[in-house]
Amino acid sequence: MRIGGRHYHTIWIKENDAAIVQVIDQRKLPFAFEVMNIRTVEETFFAIREMVVRGAPLIGVTAAYGMYLALLECNERDPEQHLLEKATYLKSSRPTAVNLAFAVDEMVDFILQHKTEADLVEKTLEKAQQLKQAEIDFGDKIGEAGLEIIEKIFAEKQGTVNILTHCNAGWLACIDWGTATAPIYKAHLKGIPVHVWVDETRPRNQGARLTAFELGEEDVPHTVIPDNTGGHLMQHGMVDMVIVGSDRTTVSGDVANKIGTYLKALAANDNGVPFYAALPSSTFDWEMEDGVKEIPIEQRAAEEVAEIEGWNGQAVQSVRLIPEKSPVANYGFDVTPARLVSGLITERGVCEANKQSILNLFPKYKK
Ligand code: MRU
Repeated sequence: MRIGGRHYHTIWIKENDAAIVQVIDQRKLPFAFEVMNIRTVEETFFAIREMVVRGAPLIGVTAAYGMYLALLECNERDPEQHLLEKATYLKSSRPTAVNLAFAVDEMVDFILQHKTEADLVEKTLEKAQQLKQAEIDFGDKIGEAGLEIIEKIFAEKQGTVNILTHCNAGWLACIDWGTATAPIYKAHLKGIPVHVWVDETRPRNQGARLTAFELGEEDVPHTVIPDNTGGHLMQHGMVDMVIVGSDRTTVSGDVANKIGTYLKALAANDNGVPFYAALPSSTFDWEMEDGVKEIPIEQRAAEEVAEIEGWNGQAVQSVRLIPEKSPVANYGFDVTPARLVSGLITERGVCEANKQSILNLFPKYKK
């Protein structure tokens, strides 16, 4: 996708130095474009934990490259212990996005399977690149599947399709297409008139800062709204569909996504607005059934709520927003129960948010 007309991925290996992973520093967007070098597992942990990179698929791919860096750090002939330690460490960087554990486990299994081979390092890098490419392909296919839904709405309405989204499940979060944004980009490229209501998404404002930035760079018409606006818009027929991403979706279809998503699903349900979650197979938790009870919800630093970040003309700066003495709660995600989800848009097509329908698309996970 584009920034200032140039094509970028969100993560790549530095040209002429395969020991350095490079990422776009998302803490600075949309105000400044900076690339960060990642050379160690500790720096990988930092990038994920501090949200230099964020969004479930990108967190997973970054951790995959992190395991490659862990292998480069191995001096012992048998890397097993070192790798397992680093795997546990990386998995602890953020708890909610299941892609993290999925990618780390894939890498560990791969490395241990090939550990006696002379070209292990090259093969491991290739494996991380494959996981990245898989996410790009997933986004592409999710886009095609979601495009059909937008096309149907357009055929019925014969006017601009208004789509509400929450947080950033775009190419910055998911590499190249995004999940929630992929159908939007595909529709826009096909000439279907779309307009996106972008929830600002406090406290980190991924919607206002990242989704709005992405859509602007791609010339997709959009409007940033405060988080509390969606219900009003839906009551007045100003939203045709909601598409959100997901950080973890249970095998029974409960969707964890950025805090505030559940309230949008309730409002959509009350107003007969279709509510879709778009996600790749790497975001399903095949072991979990009850999302509300089982999905670990990250709690982040109080400063994210007590302060707000903006651009002072030279740097990103925080200013105090609430009284010094007031305590703060900062839950990063919530869970939308399957009953409020109209459908899941995946790389294998759209399914209902229930176990049977999900496993029919992904029979490999049937037990
Ligand atoms: O805390 P973040 O920014 O890593 O949260 C991730 C998100 O942006 C969303 O919850 C998103 O909608 C799903 S990840 C593709």
